[in-house]
Amino acid sequence: MAKKRILSGMRPTGRLHLGNLHGALGNWVALQESGDYDCFYFVADWHAITSEYASTESIRDNSVNMVIDWLAAGLNPEKSTLFVQSAVKEHAELFLLLSMITPLAWLQRNPTYKEMQTELSTKDLSTFGFLGYPVLQAADIIMYKAYGVPVGVDQLPHIELTREIVRRFNYLYQKEVFPVPEPLLTNVPKLLGTDGRKMSKSYENSIYLSDRGKTLAEKVASMFTDPQRMRKKDPGDPDICNVFTFHGLYSTPETAAEINRSCRVAGIGCTDCKKMLAARIAGALAPVHERMDYYLAHLSDIAEIIADGNARAALIARKTMEEVREAIKI
Ligand code: TRP
Ligand code: SF4
Repeated sequence: MAKKRILSGMRPTGRLHLGNLHGALGNWVALQESGDYDCFYFVADWHAITSEYASTESIRDNSVNMVIDWLAAGLNPEKSTLFVQSAVKEHAELFLLLSMITPLAWLQRNPTYKEMQTELSTKDLSTFGFLGYPVLQAADIIMYKAYGVPVGVDQLPHIELTREIVRRFNYLYQKEVFPVPEPLLTNVPKLLGTDGRKMSKSYENSIYLSDRGKTLAEKVASMFTDPQRMRKKDPGDPDICNVFTFHGLYSTPETAAEINRSCRVAGIGCTDCKKMLAARIAGALAPVHERMDYYLAHLSDIAEIIADGNARAALIARKTMEEVREAIKI
């Protein structure tokens, strides 16, 4: 029996950080490794233009670097199809056709649309393309007749909209061309940046997959801890310490329990606690860095992997679009 197909995408906004690794990317790798799915993962470079249209100069480099981070994190091109949205022009055609049947009100009431406009208030996002972002996303998903879409909760409104568009399409053209996709939600641990805010590239508080050695150690050393703990002789509270959250992910349960106990009685100091954490993160990232170094030394492999993924995706996209044109009778 054919495996169920899943599809997800990421906008190429820059190097990926540990928040991404423990969120979407780690989940993508886990789904790939489960062997239960036919995985399609793509670089949503057209989506990046919706907000970056005034400064597009880094999108191309970011796309390649993001694929390097994907491979470093363990995505395997022999198991998953990795491709770039803009290389499969059918996405634009399907986007256009879906835009014809999508009521404007569905887009205007989209909560993500309103939030993003407030969040990215320095950019003028009152564009046609930005409003249509979820229609393009719907095209991405249904092009491959994906059964499931691994995403975080923030993307749920977009998946719901995709489901509505699918129902409308199938109804209007009296044919079950597209299956209604399911969101595949994952529980993501809430990882904060070094300054205690949400880890985000724009806050300059991120620990990147590519960070190692001195950079990594210095970033961990700079992490905010329990703000009440000013001196080593003050007892600390690991429950409100971001460093401790990281120990929960990177240290053994025994070590975490020991830190938990010792911190509360002013045993272990924050400097030592962070040194231990930096060593654990470095150890966990060692295989990631090994793969990263390999690909950085073999950039032509990347081009080949992407070209191969694009071709695999295009084959399906071409077939879907034939069915779509047939259904619409165009
Ligand atoms: N909107 C997604 C994000 O910002 C990226 C994306 C574009 C996507 N197309 C997709 C995710 C299709 C899943 C499926 O993260
Ligand atoms: Fe946080 Fe560790 Fe310092 Fe305790 S000892 S406050 S857990 S950094």
